Amino acid sequence: MPPIPQQTLDRTPVHVPLVTEPMGVLASLKAARRNILSIIPEIATRQPMVSGRTGKRWHMVMDPGAIRRMLLEELDNYPKSIVTKNLLRPAIGESLFIAEGAHWRWQRRTAAPVFSHRNVMNLAPIMTAAAERSAARVAAAGPRAVDMAAEMVRTTFDVIADVTFSGDGMFDVNAVHRGIDAYIAEAGKISLFDILGFPDWVPRPGRVMSGSTVAEMKRVADEAVEARRKRGSEGVPDLLDLLLEGEDPETKRRMSTPELRDNLLTFIVAGHETTALTLGWSLYLCAYDQAVQDRARAEAQSVLGGRAATGEDVARLPYIRQIIDEALRLYPPAGIISRTAQVADTLCGREIRPRDTVIIPIYALHRNHLLWPEPNRFDPDRFADRKTIERYAYLPFGDGPRICIGASFALQEAVIILATLLSRFRFTPVPGRDPDPVMILTLRPQGGVWLMAEPM
Ligand code: HEM
Repeated sequence: MPPIPQQTLDRTPVHVPLVTEPMGVLASLKAARRNILSIIPEIATRQPMVSGRTGKRWHMVMDPGAIRRMLLEELDNYPKSIVTKNLLRPAIGESLFIAEGAHWRWQRRTAAPVFSHRNVMNLAPIMTAAAERSAARVAAAGPRAVDMAAEMVRTTFDVIADVTFSGDGMFDVNAVHRGIDAYIAEAGKISLFDILGFPDWVPRPGRVMSGSTVAEMKRVADEAVEARRKRGSEGVPDLLDLLLEGEDPETKRRMSTPELRDNLLTFIVAGHETTALTLGWSLYLCAYDQAVQDRARAEAQSVLGGRAATGEDVARLPYIRQIIDEALRLYPPAGIISRTAQVADTLCGREIRPRDTVIIPIYALHRNHLLWPEPNRFDPDRFADRKTIERYAYLPFGDGPRICIGASFALQEAVIILATLLSRFRFTPVPGRDPDPVMILTLRPQGGVWLMAEPM
């Protein structure tokens, strides 16, 4: 086998060029339409807080102490911004992701056991099977470049479809997938306009996506929930079975069919593309740095010995996990989260007024020079000892009581799929086809992650 040329790693992996000059409203509008992240000022990677006014007062917070205050200590004073909620509500209702206060609390208490370690571990065979099918597709693609970003979307969709509406024949999961994708594509384009207070004439997703598409998606999902209710669980309980069984330990309330449907759709929206992106970016980074990839492959091959990874293997694949952690730092799928202040407060010594928009630009937080040495460099060894990572400086899953409920599900899935693929293939970049990081609600590798996959 010819030696793979080691690339010159004095360059850094692809990143978003952030703005260094103040932008007017029109310039920001134009830039945001292409890539929301490109309106983050470069100084957000050098300072703890940046404030401004574009119609509304807004602040970007990169200080771990201030972020802890927002996400943990003063949670109720910093609910998710109205914008985020208005954006997603037509598709996923008052589900766990959107609800606030008591309506959020009871849903969180009800859903938390669904994602217990044991339940997530029970679902691992579905992830292993999806990893196996993905490896077979990549092998069948032959000695051609493969878009691993698209391949990972397909693979994680396989998983989420199997753990939500599995075996419900009449449920056209692919139709829901397309519906959700179309929705996100439209919704994402305008979200930042709203966050920064752009005028009202900008179309909102409720108006963009026809009500009937959403209504049809919900009707089909409701039917599937009802059918499962009648049929009962068969075999290993999936997320729908577990949620059907769920009960709020405090109030004994159970979810109605529309509540179950909204939460299931939320799991699909929140869980599938985000995990695919994590994997797509991880593979891009492994192809970018062959030394990292060789070390990861050695680990995967010694643990797996030719078979696909299982749930039990995950704890024995620490370096694979470090690569995923570092990919989530450099390319956090949820690159920005935002809140609306309810009461007057002080963050980093600065005045916050009620109704101010407070943004946590996770992308800039993860590349902040005050928090990370050489932040733009790819170095999975940053995560060799997790105790050295400052908690509120690293937020791929958010934090506090509203931390991602699916984080351990996603990480288990990502380790299983990445380890299986790296144990079987050597991935190398296709020259001139580096992906462009573009954020449309999530941080995507525009143009795809085109890699050569050589069977090992
Ligand atoms: C790598 C993959 C994932 C990433 C990067 C991710 C990221 C996030 C982030 C940043 C939040 C907090 C948002 C905020 O505070 O504004 C969140 C919340 C949430 N995520 Fe995930 N997520 C992932 C996978 C999943 C999966 C697999 C599921 C479900 C199957 C899921 C379901 C949810 C739900 C329901 C919430 C709302 C929780 C609440 O507010 O109580 N996510 N996610």
